[in-house]
Amino acid sequence: MWIFPILLLLVQHSTGSILPTESPPEDTTISDERQSQCTKEFEEQDQQLTSLKAQLNVYRDKARELEMLLNYSNTMGERLWESYKAQTDFKEQVEKILMKEIQVQNSTIQLEEDQRQSFENRLNELEWQLKNRDLRIMEIETQMKHKEDRTRGYLKTFMDIIEKELEGKNADITLSTENSSERREIQASEQMEDLKEQADAKQISSDQQLKDKDTELLLKMVKEMKEQISKMEMQIQARETQMQSHDKSIRELVDQVNFLKRTWTGSCLPFTNSTDIYTIKLPGMGSVDVPCNSSVSGSGWTVIQRRVRGNVNFNRTWSEYKHGFGDLRENLFLGLEKIHLMTLLQPHELYIQLQHANGSTSYARYDDFKIGSEAEAYKLKSLGKYSGTAEDSLAFHEDMKFSTFDRDNLDCAKYFGGGWWFDTCAESNLNGIYYPNGTSSKRDGIFWGAWQKDNYTISLTFTQMMIRPKVM
Ligand SMILES: *[C@@H]1O[C@H](CO)[C@@H](O)[C@H](O)[C@H]1NC(C)=O
Ligand SMILES: *[C@@H]1O[C@H](CO)[C@@H](O)[C@H](O)[C@H]1NC(C)=O
Ligand SMILES: *[C@@H]1O[C@H](CO)[C@@H](O)[C@H](O)[C@H]1NC(C)=O
Ligand SMILES: *[C@@H]1O[C@H](CO)[C@@H](O)[C@H](O)[C@H]1NC(C)=O
Ligand SMILES: *[C@@H]1O[C@H](CO)[C@@H](O)[C@H](O)[C@H]1NC(C)=O
Ligand SMILES: *[C@@H]1O[C@H](CO)[C@@H](O)[C@H](O)[C@H]1NC(C)=O
Ligand SMILES: *[C@@H]1O[C@H](CO)[C@@H](O)[C@H](O)[C@H]1NC(C)=O
Ligand SMILES: *[C@@H]1O[C@H](CO)[C@@H](O)[C@H](O)[C@H]1NC(C)=O
Ligand SMILES: *[C@@H]1O[C@H](CO)[C@@H](O)[C@H](O)[C@H]1NC(C)=O
Repeated sequence: MWIFPILLLLVQHSTGSILPTESPPEDTTISDERQSQCTKEFEEQDQQLTSLKAQLNVYRDKARELEMLLNYSNTMGERLWESYKAQTDFKEQVEKILMKEIQVQNSTIQLEEDQRQSFENRLNELEWQLKNRDLRIMEIETQMKHKEDRTRGYLKTFMDIIEKELEGKNADITLSTENSSERREIQASEQMEDLKEQADAKQISSDQQLKDKDTELLLKMVKEMKEQISKMEMQIQARETQMQSHDKSIRELVDQVNFLKRTWTGSCLPFTNSTDIYTIKLPGMGSVDVPCNSSVSGSGWTVIQRRVRGNVNFNRTWSEYKHGFGDLRENLFLGLEKIHLMTLLQPHELYIQLQHANGSTSYARYDDFKIGSEAEAYKLKSLGKYSGTAEDSLAFHEDMKFSTFDRDNLDCAKYFGGGWWFDTCAESNLNGIYYPNGTSSKRDGIFWGAWQKDNYTISLTFTQMMIRPKVM
């Protein structure tokens, strides 16, 4: 593109230089003077030609340079295109991973829902059975009432019969006393007296007999009835026991449902009085052993970090902070992935205990602790409201990514030693170097700036970080 006009220019120059003079020679004989003039002119033109050649070379060089520039910009374009493509691919991959995570969580939620449903069904069934039992007890009560009524009926008929019999006897006696003649009036009256007495006696005795019989019968019936009643009472009692056992099994089921609900969320909450290692379940990870602590500010805390001695190095790699390290019963960091999964599904509290080498202690508590996924560099996503006695030295780190010396997001981890949510750089770092004597020469110990009045030669000798699902 550039070369063509340059060549044209060159040709114009050359043609000009071929004709030395504009006018034709006047003489056929060339004078010496003229000859030397010509030679001079030729020399001049030669010089001109050489300079033009040099110019041409300069232009050629420029042209090559421009071509190289063009080539360079082409390669740059290609590289840009490649990096754009790589970025797009990366984005797609991340999206895929996220989608997978969502699906895993979805299926976990589905599973939970199914379990809950089956428990509910079971509860409904048991309730229905209970209702049935109530109905049957009512039925039995009605039957008992029937039987009682019938017994009363029998008794009444029986009494009627007895009364009638007694009446008949009285009539006989009256009749026989009426039948007397005037002649034997006195005798008769005496006899009558006698008879009357006899009749009275008879009546009394028969009454007595009847009464005895009656009583016997009644007693027998009462006994029978009592037996029946006690039988029924026993039946009722049996039903009641059955009902109670059903009540109990229902309560047990409800407890189980609650237990499952709590354990499935993955925390120490179900282990109310525990002070040891327990297995919890995390979505997408399964069973995980964690230390639980219920002797500090209520029960159900999961310990995620603890410093008690200097025997465990906390200046570790990203991968080690991701998966966790140390001894569950002593110095430990539980692992960022676990903490992320625990705080993912429901709000958590964070409780931090601190102790100075001089023995004094303090705590800081936050009511909404949450960290992001590895794709978000386990960012300290939220802390919530602070309360406590140590003053707040963590809010400074809110929204910061986690850093380790091999993945130093802000060039702080290497200096401070140990992973933390460094800003530029730190107001607290509980994963620093452990100094048993509580004093560090530079700012690389375990510190909580607000509590130690920004005296960073102080290095704390005990820390414990614990989390617990927020009780609404
Ligand atoms: C520019 O690229 C072309 C084709 O790739 C190549 O033939 C040419 O030598 C390159 N020019 C320079 C100056 O590198
Ligand atoms: C997860 O479940 C929700 C609601 O059930 C649904 O809208 C969403 O599409 C599901 N996502 C995936 C990735 O299955
Ligand atoms: C009463 O006496 C009369 C005769 O004096 C006799 O005919 C009658 O049968 C007696 N009746 C009874 C119930 O004894
Ligand atoms: C837990 O401890 C408290 C207080 O010591 C006690 O009242 C409660 O019964 C304990 N619960 C269990 C499940 O052991
Ligand atoms: C719970 O934490 C306290 C520290 O405040 C400690 O004294 C106790 O031993 C811990 N319990 C367990 C089982 O770690
Ligand atoms: C932590 O370890 C890294 C890598 O070994 C090292 O560069 C850094 O100086 C260490 N930091 C401290 C404070 O020891
Ligand atoms: C504390 O221990 C560190 C390292 O172990 C040491 O450098 C420092 O001199 C000690 N400080 C005191 C006051 O003993
Ligand atoms: C111990 O250290 C803490 C933290 O620096 C301080 O607040 C407290 O006054 C100290 N106590 C004693 C008895 O020195
Ligand atoms: C910081 O704390 C150390 C003890 O660890 C103490 O010797 C020093 O005087 C304190 N510095 C200030 C400025 O208070």
